Amino acid sequence: MIFHELNNSICKTYLIACEATGHALLVDPVATRIDRYLAVLAYHHLKLDYLLDTHTHADHRSACGELSSLTGAKVVRHLSAPQPNVDIHVQDGDLLEVGNLSLKILYTPGHTPDSVSVLAGDRVLSGDCLLIGGTGRTDFASGDAGQQYESITRTLFSLPDDTLVFPGHDYRGNKRSTIGHEKRHNPRIANKTREEYIEIMAALGLPLPEQIQEVLQVNATDLEDSEITYPSIAELNKVFQMSPEMVRDQISGNAPPLIIDVRQADEFNGELGHLAGSVSIPLNRLAAKMTEYEAYKDRKIITVCRAGVRSTTAAAILNALHFTDVHNLKGGMIEWVRSGYPVQWIE
Ligand SMILES: [Fe+2]
Repeated sequence: MIFHELNNSICKTYLIACEATGHALLVDPVATRIDRYLAVLAYHHLKLDYLLDTHTHADHRSACGELSSLTGAKVVRHLSAPQPNVDIHVQDGDLLEVGNLSLKILYTPGHTPDSVSVLAGDRVLSGDCLLIGGTGRTDFASGDAGQQYESITRTLFSLPDDTLVFPGHDYRGNKRSTIGHEKRHNPRIANKTREEYIEIMAALGLPLPEQIQEVLQVNATDLEDSEITYPSIAELNKVFQMSPEMVRDQISGNAPPLIIDVRQADEFNGELGHLAGSVSIPLNRLAAKMTEYEAYKDRKIITVCRAGVRSTTAAAILNALHFTDVHNLKGGMIEWVRSGYPVQWIE
């Protein structure tokens, strides 16, 4: 196995390739370093098969989309990843074949709901779940400290003690650790109960990453900020969230809401289908298109997307356009389908 960390900075990108066949995978590529990645791949005569983000990043723009269009490599993401333009959705336990290598996806949510780790032989890429002497923050982007505790203690710490750990970030110049070392010495989580861990994470008080809005929402939508005016975090936090069950009740009530599906056109009729009666208005066209819906200024509107992230952005945009009764389908089509509610496709 060929294995390199390519950025040599606090933000890590890993190249994993099969020595025998030359097939390769890049994990967490960063948009500002695309030339470097292409040069390394060319130098080693590698064929890039897959691009994988361990989660939706808030601190850097992902290079997956651009590298995919430059090389034809397929973008791989966890099932609950919010953005469009994903070629392969994976779940816990799925195997990714890269030449003769078989890499295992471990679902390790908590930093974000779509966080995965990648087990590659004797090592695990732990993303922003388990860091060296630390753990990924859980205080924004739907992070959940309790869930992260389970991901680390049940999933990652059940790997053999000598498994090498390569995290998504390191701020102290460390390059690798082992599961055994982290299990015994990681000050955040070693010998801590779930409750103690949740308390520790709640008390961190970290500042938000610089330009979090520009980065997180761009990564979650695949839309440049020239195509859309992104709402602020405060505006996103004000959006009313509605469970699938409540949305179903609204639809069958006597004043059915306007349901706006803001996914791309191909997703509207894609694998998850869409809600009966919903109108398809892709997010980048929403503001312009809403001039046709003036009659709905004070009527109930429900926004829908894949995972409920893009549609939260959409709901905040509608609020800013003075639509007063806007709700978001929490968890999006993924939760709707998981709840067993009906979907349809246009023939
Ligand atoms: Fe992260």
